[in-house]
Amino acid sequence: MDTAPTNPSPAGPVTAVIVVAAGSGQRLGYGMPKAKVPLGGDSILTHALRGVAAAGVAQQICVAIPPGDSELHALCDEFTHELAALHRRTAASSHGVQAPVVTVVDGGASRADSVRAAMAALLPAVDSVLVHDAARALAPESVFHRVVAALGAGAAAVIPVIPVVDTVKTVEATTGDGVAVAPELVTGTAPREFLRAVQTPQGFALDTLKRAHEAAAGFDAGRAALVTDDAMLVELLGIPVHAVRGASQSLKITTPLDLILAEGLLEGPLGARWVEG
Ligand code: C5P
Repeated sequence: MDTAPTNPSPAGPVTAVIVVAAGSGQRLGYGMPKAKVPLGGDSILTHALRGVAAAGVAQQICVAIPPGDSELHALCDEFTHELAALHRRTAASSHGVQAPVVTVVDGGASRADSVRAAMAALLPAVDSVLVHDAARALAPESVFHRVVAALGAGAAAVIPVIPVVDTVKTVEATTGDGVAVAPELVTGTAPREFLRAVQTPQGFALDTLKRAHEAAAGFDAGRAALVTDDAMLVELLGIPVHAVRGASQSLKITTPLDLILAEGLLEGPLGARWVEG
């Protein structure tokens, strides 16, 4: 599903945002892909796509959905029409800037497979890419801007992060006599000052992201299951990954409690006060 062609500035980077929305969302317990789950009267995916569009950084938005999911495809079509209508209404003030191209692809069995499928559908002119989890449907525009600014300043890879508030320990399964006491045994305490919780959108020079995923394409199933974000694949190449400030409202909607929080952020009495810079 493509809309009108883009008109990137001849001098500037051409940026695509890949939105991965092909997960099953089982931990949310709705019995449907997470992207479809209602949030504030719309779907999680619609909120995520509106957030991407509002950031205004993308010439292309490429969405990976569960293969053959006609409902999510229809949601993407609706979003494309919404975006086109918005751009028509604001044409006079947008100085000829066109709506981003929206492309929908079938995702894969793993998140990394979904990213690879989306990369294969990017426009030829794209040279930088942000990978964003649809599950982080409320990520604020400011985070997109910080990631894009770091790319513009020369980073090949950049991730939004927030400080970790909990003390984090490593554990192992208890064995022998210890089993009767507790299921796990603490093996260490990570120094919290150096720990960061990692969010999306994660930004990359396209050639860097391609190389990282090519290297990972040969992973066996066990190793592939350990790949939880794109930056870790870039780290494996030895390429520096830079970190900018994320936002707590970029929470990854994973459990029923997260959904309650997200609803609260959108509609609750504290909603407006939760908008972080
Ligand atoms: O399951 P997980 O928490 O890793 O999902 C993170 C994001 O990756 C979600 O937005 C989910 O829809 C997406 N994903 C995907 N394809 C998969 C698995 C997850 O696009 N096969």
